[in-house]
Amino acid sequence: MENIKISVVMGSSSDYATVKETTALLEKFGVSFEKKVVSAHRTPEDMVDYAKNAKSRGIEVIIAAAGGAAHLPGMIASLTTIPVIGIPIESKTLKGIDSLLSIVQMPAGIPVLTVAIGVAGAKNAALAAIAMLAVHDEQLALALQSYRNEMADAVRGSELI
Ligand code: RP5
Repeated sequence: MENIKISVVMGSSSDYATVKETTALLEKFGVSFEKKVVSAHRTPEDMVDYAKNAKSRGIEVIIAAAGGAAHLPGMIASLTTIPVIGIPIESKTLKGIDSLLSIVQMPAGIPVLTVAIGVAGAKNAALAAIAMLAVHDEQLALALQSYRNEMADAVRGSELI
C-alpha cells in the first residue's frame, strides 16, 4: 500500500493556481499527499475509478477543488466513505458563488465539508485535513498547535504604521 494519506484533486489544471496554497501547506507540515487533475465532466470514468479505488490505496482524506458547476467533490463523496473537503474555486463570471453553492448545498446523506471560496479555502482545506489526521497523530497535533501559536504571535506583534 502507498503511504499517501491525503489526495488532492482538482477539476482543471487552471485550478492549481489556487490549489497550490493547499499543497504548500501540506508540504510545510510534512504530510504525504498526491495531487492530480480529475474532471467530473471531461473524464467522468477516470473520476469514478479514482474515487472507488482511493480507500483501498490508503487515502484517508480527499480534498477536491472545482469551479463553476462544481460537481467534482459531491460526485467523489458519493463514491467513497472517505471524508471529502471541497474547495470552491473563484470563477470569473460569478466570483465563485456558483462553485460555493454547488459544493456546499449537498442534499442530506452525502456530506462534502466545504471551505471558503478561493485562497482562504485552499489553505483551510489543508489545515482541516491535517487536523483530521492529527486526531491519531500527536506529532502532527503539536505541529498544528505551533502553527496557530505563530499566528497568534504575529497578531500580537502587529505594527500599525
Ligand atoms: C471546472 O471548470 C474546473 O474545476 C475549473 O474550475 C472550471 C474551468 O475549467 P477550465 O475551463 O479552466 O479547464 O471543471
